[in-house]
Amino acid sequence: MLAIIGGTGLTQLSTLEVTHREVARTPYGEPSGALSFGRLNGREAVFLARHGYGHSIPPHKVNYRANLWALKKAGAQVVVSVASVGGIRADLGPGVLVVPNQIIDYTVARANTFFDGADTTVRHIDFTHPYDEKTRRQILEAARAEGEPVVDGGVYAATEGPRLETAAEINRFERDGADLVGMTGMPETVLARELDLPYAAINVVVNYAAGRSASAAGIQFEHVEEVSQAAMWRVRKILARLCQTQTQTPHPNSNPNLMRDA
Ligand code: HPA
Repeated sequence: MLAIIGGTGLTQLSTLEVTHREVARTPYGEPSGALSFGRLNGREAVFLARHGYGHSIPPHKVNYRANLWALKKAGAQVVVSVASVGGIRADLGPGVLVVPNQIIDYTVARANTFFDGADTTVRHIDFTHPYDEKTRRQILEAARAEGEPVVDGGVYAATEGPRLETAAEINRFERDGADLVGMTGMPETVLARELDLPYAAINVVVNYAAGRSASAAGIQFEHVEEVSQAAMWRVRKILARLCQTQTQTPHPNSNPNLMRDA
């Protein structure tokens, strides 16, 4: 079953025919909201609004561990994140969709692991390639089939927020090699990896990053809503197509020890 975590601009997935909603409890507390189960393009899917359905949870307060845990427990086999970002690279302007392939983590104060010492053994997971390549390819293929242009690859800089960046911070991120900046990619991506959940993202550029292009004098928000709405319709099309490519076979829990307390 495909799980979709929707960010700003995608607090509801109107294309999902919802069959039921479930309020999940986890050892890490409550997820951002009820999980919406249903059918997307005839296939089973589950949707979760990252910031809550009323969009009331800021990026640094999202309970990422509870969200990922609840999705895994609900039977998710693949997770696709949809998240708004600022574009650092000149060609990544408002309205562009990107399927990132790398991450630099600048977050500083988040619960960023399930392996926090409660286990008897120390665990270090491989995170060389943070996104699941097969899922990335499937997203790119779904977009191609829908005739929606998407950029293949980009380095996502994850910031703590909730404030936006200074122009100097964006310059630093660029020197580090980042193409995009957002506030929710970490620890979400690594937590999925810790649960052995294949995870990939569709990033929607809603503004130029601070100090860049139209944001040279400051980030103007008047067009963000408009850009985001239009882009999210394209994202919904891609997700519906993507859902068709997902297998429906029951997936045994690949990490049963980890789920033992839930
Ligand atoms: N910076 C950080 N996060 C964001 C931005 C940005 O410019 N735009 C959307 N999310």
